[in-house]
Amino acid sequence: MNIEDVKNICVIGAGNMGHQIALCCALAGYKVTCTDISQEMLDKAEAFAKSYLPERVAKGKLTQEMADGALTNLQFIPSLEEAAGEADYVIEAAVEKMEIKRKLFADLDRIAPPQAILATNSSYIVSSQIADATKRPAKICNMHFFNPALVMKLVEVVQGPHTSEETAQVTMDLCAKLGKIAVLLKKEIYGFLVNRILSALAQEALFLADMGIATPQEIDIAVTNALGHPMGPFRLMDLTGIDLAYYSAMERYQTSRDPKDKPSPLVVEKYVKGEWGKKTKKGYYTYD
Ligand code: 3HC
Repeated sequence: MNIEDVKNICVIGAGNMGHQIALCCALAGYKVTCTDISQEMLDKAEAFAKSYLPERVAKGKLTQEMADGALTNLQFIPSLEEAAGEADYVIEAAVEKMEIKRKLFADLDRIAPPQAILATNSSYIVSSQIADATKRPAKICNMHFFNPALVMKLVEVVQGPHTSEETAQVTMDLCAKLGKIAVLLKKEIYGFLVNRILSALAQEALFLADMGIATPQEIDIAVTNALGHPMGPFRLMDLTGIDLAYYSAMERYQTSRDPKDKPSPLVVEKYVKGEWGKKTKKGYYTYD
């Protein structure tokens, strides 16, 4: 298989990441099916595409023809069977829970054509923890986008010991077709590059807030103005989802059993209250 064989892309999950990954692929000219177990999420994703594309045209960032093409290319389909049945490349962007991902990959292995590559957009989980749920481990890899996926240029591609050279190459080529800058990791590590670096920063920021040394807002002011980051760690957590911060810390703790990997008290408090950031309109900040 080479990149020219990729015509149909299926994106699993219409949430924070999935809806924008699907749109990236549609804008690059691929036929895209986006699926989710929640009809509400699919409706929201479709509404986003229908408002985002005309906005880009009005801003002069897209031609009308490109916007129309992307909308024609993009379908929102509730049935996994229908969405993945003819896919050449599948990008899974479902919730960050190992068992859900393993079950999804087992289903995808049954549904997607045998030549299809199945990639996970997991934020932390390496694909070798998922590949053995399928009978095509050579065609499994990580393809990790950043939020907001329409804007952020980087994609991390991780080639596990089971991933073939061909799968890694097609994935790198796909990143280029999407206009992304890709880094290829040939050794698996939990959290890859960026989220490991980011979580070191977030862990310290949470420690300072948990200790009452400064508020999340003060820490964000310090980081943005001293380090030049476009967002401080708390506003960024609101963007990526405090639920994701909670799940990933739990996943990490369950593997390591190291108390320092447990989610911070502030993350637990926000998670339990359902204040998960921008997606729930309240996190460390409130949103209209
Ligand atoms: N969706 C799509 N496009 C968006 C967007 C969104 N949610 N938010 C902003 N944009 C676009 C705008 O349309 C604008 O595009 P244009 O310049 O082509 O017209 C551009 O981004 C700049 O937007 P704004 O001027 O409104 O706002 P900012 O300049 O403040 O930029 C930001 C917003 C791009 C989100 C910027 O604050 C930023 O880069 N923040 C850091 C994001 C980051 O670190 N992401 C990585 C998170 S880690 C991760 O995702 C890992 C995962 O595993 C959790």
